[in-house]
Amino acid sequence: MNEKQRHEQNQIKQTNPSDIKSDQDNLNRLKEKTSDDFIKYFEATYEPPNLRKAQKRGKQDVKYDEFQIDEQFQGLGKGKKYLIRTYGCQMNEHDTEVMSGLLEEMGYESTTDTKEADIILLNTCAIRENAENKVFGEIGHLKPLKVENPDLIIGVCGCMSQEEAVVNRILEKHHQVDLIFGTHNIHRLPQLVQNAYLSKERVVEVWSKEGDVIENLPKRRQGKIKAWVNIMYGCDKFCTYCIVPYTRGKERSRLPEDIIQEVRHLAAQGYKEVTLLGQNVNAYGKDLEMEYGLGDLMDEIRKIDIPRVRFTTSHPRDFDDRLIEVLAKGGNLMPYIHLPVQSGNSDVLKLMGRKYTRERYLDLVRKIKEAIPHASFSTDIIVGFPNETEEQFQDTLSLYDEVGFESAYTFIFSPREGTPAAKFNDKISMEEKKDRLQRLNAKVNAYSAEAMKKYEGQTVKVLVEGESKNNPDVLAGYTEHSKLVNFIGPKSAIGQIVEVKITEAKTWTLDGVMVEESIEVS
Ligand code: 5AD
Ligand code: SF4
Repeated sequence: MNEKQRHEQNQIKQTNPSDIKSDQDNLNRLKEKTSDDFIKYFEATYEPPNLRKAQKRGKQDVKYDEFQIDEQFQGLGKGKKYLIRTYGCQMNEHDTEVMSGLLEEMGYESTTDTKEADIILLNTCAIRENAENKVFGEIGHLKPLKVENPDLIIGVCGCMSQEEAVVNRILEKHHQVDLIFGTHNIHRLPQLVQNAYLSKERVVEVWSKEGDVIENLPKRRQGKIKAWVNIMYGCDKFCTYCIVPYTRGKERSRLPEDIIQEVRHLAAQGYKEVTLLGQNVNAYGKDLEMEYGLGDLMDEIRKIDIPRVRFTTSHPRDFDDRLIEVLAKGGNLMPYIHLPVQSGNSDVLKLMGRKYTRERYLDLVRKIKEAIPHASFSTDIIVGFPNETEEQFQDTLSLYDEVGFESAYTFIFSPREGTPAAKFNDKISMEEKKDRLQRLNAKVNAYSAEAMKKYEGQTVKVLVEGESKNNPDVLAGYTEHSKLVNFIGPKSAIGQIVEVKITEAKTWTLDGVMVEESIEVS
């Protein structure tokens, strides 16, 4: 896009939250106008990620709202089918459940066949470059479908839609995409789909800034056993490598009563496990006008009659004593803690903007282990941060040994446009980074295998999720420490917590046999 086009695009109206109420009036008026007027109204401009501006964002102006679907949208999807492809983290998985809920309230039915779909949404992830490349690959694959069926609506949403460069690239090169909307615009999906049908032109709606907290959104949950529950949105940590604070907006906590009510409702529906979700769940409550944090919330949730409660993702900096004290009460609070460390070297941590040192991280782990001796830990690690030396990398390896993580997600640093670390000069070659990743992964695998080995001969409690993916005669589920167990047992065990005797440990999974009488135990 040249300067002139960019300038023109910037003149196009950006839809913003205060416009929502008058949208229908505008739409009615616009229907009588030309398609050019229509595009001008609906193609939103985009404010690029701006670190200084984003860091100054205020705490006060979050709006709490209740969702209600407008009657006019209810029959819009009747007789039609939708398909959503999800990339990235649990937050995206859960957003897909909300979007599915919204589409089903409009009358759409789900399909897994792209050829059958009337609307296909790609719910995208921006965390690393390869995640984005996959999405662009998929956008390309969808092109022939659009040629075959011009009525098909293809939409791109999720984190990538919050990036200026991505929106521009799609607008310029991928004309098969009809609809682009951001992470703060999900609740507007019915309206946006209607706009896409009416305009037959591209609809872009990306609010760049904060986002509100919208309660009561419909959800089509993926199963009836485990459920995700958002407790907060956004992130204010601004780790220097990370795009999330820009794509997901500022930290906004849901009110405790709304979360507790949702968990109670899930328990009443028979769900066996909830995972409390947020980019940095330990910051929960900081933006609320009361002294109330994640520990307080968990203390209330543990009293709800639901067998398993988990939470993700933690930030070591905000992991406080109150939370440790509550987790130590055990019960339905699972003794498995995902605690991303990113690096074992304090200088690298400083450059990453993580706001803790190696020593503080190890101190925190020690404190948690003292309070919850049977807790196990997993982590996230980035290797090859700009100019990371071999010595600094060795610190990561030695920290891994000191903690004895049972598993880890490991990544090579990927520069993300708009983040401070993307501007750092980097003398380390990709070859060296790949080599470090390999060496780290060898350690990760060894520790995982060792952790698994300890379970051989033990009896563990497994929440049975269904048949194993590879063999329908085998059941599969997870232990309290989040280990995947494949075992022989009756189908009636699905959805129950049963005891399984572990017969063999593999690197990442366990094999076992169900203890016969344990089905009543649950
Ligand atoms: N490059 C590589 N890994 C990243 N992560 C976040 N941003 C980047 C990046 N730019 C990793 C972190 C985070 C996990 C979700 O993804 O380890 O914890
Ligand atoms: Fe990204 Fe997590 Fe850091 Fe937030 S805390 S900026 S989501 S890595």
